Amino acid sequence: MKILVTGGAGYIGSHTAVELLKAGYEITIVDNLSNSSIDVIDSIKEITNKDFNFYELDVKDEDKLNEVFVKENIEAVIHFAAFKAVGESVEKPLKYYENNLENTISLLKVMQKNNIKKIIFSSSACVYGDPEELPIKETAKLTTTNPYGATKHMIERILKDVYKAETDLSVIILRYFNPIGSDSSYKIGENPKGIPNNLMPFIVRVANREIDHLNIFGDDYDTKDGTGVRDYIHVTDLAIGHIKALEKANKDIGIFVYNLGTGTGYSVLEMVKTFEKVNNVKVPYEITKRRDGDIAACYADPSLAKEELGWVATKTLEDMCYDSYQYIINRK
Ligand code: UFG
Repeated sequence: MKILVTGGAGYIGSHTAVELLKAGYEITIVDNLSNSSIDVIDSIKEITNKDFNFYELDVKDEDKLNEVFVKENIEAVIHFAAFKAVGESVEKPLKYYENNLENTISLLKVMQKNNIKKIIFSSSACVYGDPEELPIKETAKLTTTNPYGATKHMIERILKDVYKAETDLSVIILRYFNPIGSDSSYKIGENPKGIPNNLMPFIVRVANREIDHLNIFGDDYDTKDGTGVRDYIHVTDLAIGHIKALEKANKDIGIFVYNLGTGTGYSVLEMVKTFEKVNNVKVPYEITKRRDGDIAACYADPSLAKEELGWVATKTLEDMCYDSYQYIINRK
């Protein structure tokens, strides 16, 4: 089966491409390389020893995208391509609305034109905003606190409306919690340009002495030790979740939403301590004030994905901390 992976040179996209190829799917990747590098495409081929076509294009370009669908005989789509920096989305909301919404609409139109019925969409736990109840179930109220999150919420809404109008589709929405870690080859991983915004890419750079110390944003939250609590999930577990979603889309028509998380929340201090222990390194930190827009705690109830997809996260926090660091060390 031939799968189109949009944003397949990105962090989650590249790991999913690897798992798809390992599972015997054929793939085509499209990516505009706005936040990724062509080297990732070579790395995916090296890791899997498999070949595929890559097109450097913007999903917003309907004509070029249509050519890819026709030429490659695409049968299903996994849609990752999007801007994803929360802070930047607050500063440049139009950039986010324009890119993330326009490219999804373009993709859905081209799918329609080519009679393609299966799509898996990369959503985010940020659609839950500041959750009222923990762990978070898929039925929780949706509310977002920044333009990036709003685009994910809006795309979910668009997909629901498109499904209502075209009821023979299989639409699977995956809400990711906090992906970290790297493929065990350490040839692909998370490597943001500039100073990282997210916790794990920041920790690895401090451990690697590229940055002096970590700022922990607040220790006065109502959590186990006062620091923020999140559901960190190994990116390979997350990638495998897409294979399970694809199996579901091949079997059932409808629109389905799943949380992909471990179900366990860890605090920032627990992350630092585990990282130091597993990698035998120091991560100096300072407690600073809370970051605007942050919430105290966010972790999934992943039981629906277990029941309906047969998916569970298997990697431990130790695995995640180890693999995140190995990728950075091997990158040198
Ligand atoms: N944190 C620090 N210092 C840092 C970076 C982060 O203390 O330098 C803390 C945050 O305050 C938070 C935790 O580490 O408590 C995790 O922060 P991240 O920035 O890594 O992740 P967020 O949960 O804030 O957001 C991430 C993604 C979003 C996504 C969301 C889903 O950035 O795109 O997870 O839950 F929507």
